[in-house]
Amino acid sequence: MRPRMEVALGPLRLRNPVMTASGTCGSGLELAPFADLSRLGAVVGKTVTREPRIGNPPPRTFETAAGMLNSIGLQNPGIDRFLSGVLPEVVASGYPFVANIAGESVEDFAALAARFEAVRGTLPVAGIEANLSCPNVAGGLDFSVDPRRAAEVVGALRRATTLPLLAKLSPNVTDVRPLARACEEAGADAVTLVNTYLGAAVDWRRRKPVFGRVMAGLSGPAIKPLALFQVWRASSAVRIPVVGIGGIMDAGDALEFLCAGARAVQVGTALFRTPTAANDLLDGMERLLEEEGIADVNDLVGTLRPRAEPAP
Ligand code: FUM
Repeated sequence: MRPRMEVALGPLRLRNPVMTASGTCGSGLELAPFADLSRLGAVVGKTVTREPRIGNPPPRTFETAAGMLNSIGLQNPGIDRFLSGVLPEVVASGYPFVANIAGESVEDFAALAARFEAVRGTLPVAGIEANLSCPNVAGGLDFSVDPRRAAEVVGALRRATTLPLLAKLSPNVTDVRPLARACEEAGADAVTLVNTYLGAAVDWRRRKPVFGRVMAGLSGPAIKPLALFQVWRASSAVRIPVVGIGGIMDAGDALEFLCAGARAVQVGTALFRTPTAANDLLDGMERLLEEEGIADVNDLVGTLRPRAEPAP
């Protein structure tokens, strides 16, 4: 029998736990010719800011041995053009869409959320994911390394909207648990982790960094074990759901994240290689759960059992 796949991120009900990751498929319209996005739990859009951003100068991506580095710099058309020129098409397309937002200040975040709240009647989004953790712009990590600042943003967002609210956190901290707890206490419905790990690439013959800012964000299979650990750690520290992300390439990877405590997963880097990766992964999850006799995907969430300590 096909397993039940519906999951809930607080008030955000998803038909299954598979989401696309922000920044890996635009608003989804770019991916729609290749994959049926209406089958997914949700598409998470590229970060939108108050003003348009042209992003960082090229190169912006670099393939590594087991992943990729990116330094996009939050290129986006800005909220006005997003609401008038992109969101209407997204809503007409009918797939569940979570808007991802970022700002340079608490006020920026709150203003962006208020814009989505204001168009809720005509252009509804399923939820808002606050990007507190972009490593590719000045100050992009500020809200994700200090629990007080994370709480300020999430608290302001909570006051600005009743839409389901996810806070996307950085792994570039000593301990992600205080950040996750701060977001929970400030009113987030879920935390998403992890954003990319700080990394660099070097052109040694030219004695130059590949990226203008030297640092970039590492994603892909290289970070999967690191992300799995962070998800396990955070999910043991908060009661709100955790959305796991980081190097998920196939159904087995996704089920590992659920077992480690994630209620849903996001697929990112895999989409650059295979545009149908999220759909393929969903099919594979259903098949594996059925094979394992798991009737409801929720029954797997957080079932990781630490191995018993060896006897002294
Ligand atoms: O556009 C960007 O550079 C976004 C990066 C991130 O949020 O990880």
